[in-house]
Amino acid sequence: MQEIAAPYFGPDACTAIDELVDEHAGAGVFVLVDENTKAFCHPLLVARHSSLRNARLIEIPEGEKAKNFHTAVAVWEQLSEKGALRDSLLVCLGGGVLCDLGGFTASAYRRGMPFIMVPTSLMAMVDAAIGGKNGINLAGLKNQIGSFTQPDSICIVSDFLETLPSRHILSGYAEMIKHALIDGKSFESLKKISPVEIATSLSLIRQSALIKLDIVKQDPLEKGYRKVLNLGHTIGHAFETWSAMHSPDPVLHGEAIAAGLICEAFISVKHCGLPVSVLDDVVQLVMTHFQKTTFYTPAGNELIEIMLHDKKVKQEGRINFTLLSNPGSPLIDQYPGEALIRESLHYYVNL
Ligand SMILES: NC(=O)c1ccc[n+]([C@@H]2O[C@H](COP(=O)([O-])OP(=O)(O)OC[C@H]3O[C@@H](n4cnc5c(N)ncnc54)[C@H](O)[C@@H]3O)[C@@H](O)[C@H]2O)c1
Repeated sequence: MQEIAAPYFGPDACTAIDELVDEHAGAGVFVLVDENTKAFCHPLLVARHSSLRNARLIEIPEGEKAKNFHTAVAVWEQLSEKGALRDSLLVCLGGGVLCDLGGFTASAYRRGMPFIMVPTSLMAMVDAAIGGKNGINLAGLKNQIGSFTQPDSICIVSDFLETLPSRHILSGYAEMIKHALIDGKSFESLKKISPVEIATSLSLIRQSALIKLDIVKQDPLEKGYRKVLNLGHTIGHAFETWSAMHSPDPVLHGEAIAAGLICEAFISVKHCGLPVSVLDDVVQLVMTHFQKTTFYTPAGNELIEIMLHDKKVKQEGRINFTLLSNPGSPLIDQYPGEALIRESLHYYVNL
């Protein structure tokens, strides 16, 4: 079993990057970027770490649509053409898409090369870069191929967020709401802080990232307890997949999760006795910051179909949820049934 990688923050993260780059300099260091992180983050990285000036760049297209097998093959081909060895280091400099895909390609290249996560989006800092889950999408379905492989380090430097578009700040904020609901202790304080304040506060980012780390440590391979992190994701992933199939401007992961949190809080009230006041808080928080994503009535059946194809569905074909009985009290392996799922979609659409 691999040791769970704990994130370094701020100056400690910079020191960790320098040490790992020095360690692997002989075998070669590669920096994986997308078109945006190449333009906005790579100059900052190189300015801070002169040892990375000679590292070779591998560029992938930005965004969820690039999180697929073709991009993974292109990364493997470039690593091979540029002479990457088994001991070479891959620095994943990007958002959640790049961290997921970079971790996956590194975990398989020559049966596993060292890699570090240098997350540049809020989503990646508080969530995607932590926990060792990596992967790519298949046939429009999220994260169907991947592995559990821990990075050699996770280095979180919040300055990268200065160039992250506000829509993507909000997307990461949705996962912070989820972490606060699971943890319970930080939910009251999160309610009072705007997403912009969060993006400039390394201590809030650290708090959220450490909630995820603590959960992952208790269940690294998602055999049980780690499923608490699926709160908002059963319906959220279905929204995301449906939107990618139908919309010219698909919702972002976090936007879909924000909508999923409302639906699943609604189900939690009916199925697990979550106080209505908490549902009201979630609705208030999400509706204040996120544009409403409307899912037309015919999508109800399609959404249920998508959920039935989701990896969280149990063998009996029932749709599995993580729900809440209170902030701080998540419940895994809940089966509220299709009627209540439909009711929650109806509730969301009519808000
Ligand atoms: N592995 C996990 O545990 C886990 C957890 C949560 C989310 N995820 C995955 O993360 C992905 C979403 O991640 P995301 O929201 O970061 O999206 P993303 O990786 O697509 O990044 C968002 C956009 O911002 C750009 N960008 C990133 N950093 C920037 C910066 N500092 N300045 C300017 N532009 C920047 C990117 O190029 C992209 O266009 C999804 O695929 C989701 O499944 C994985």
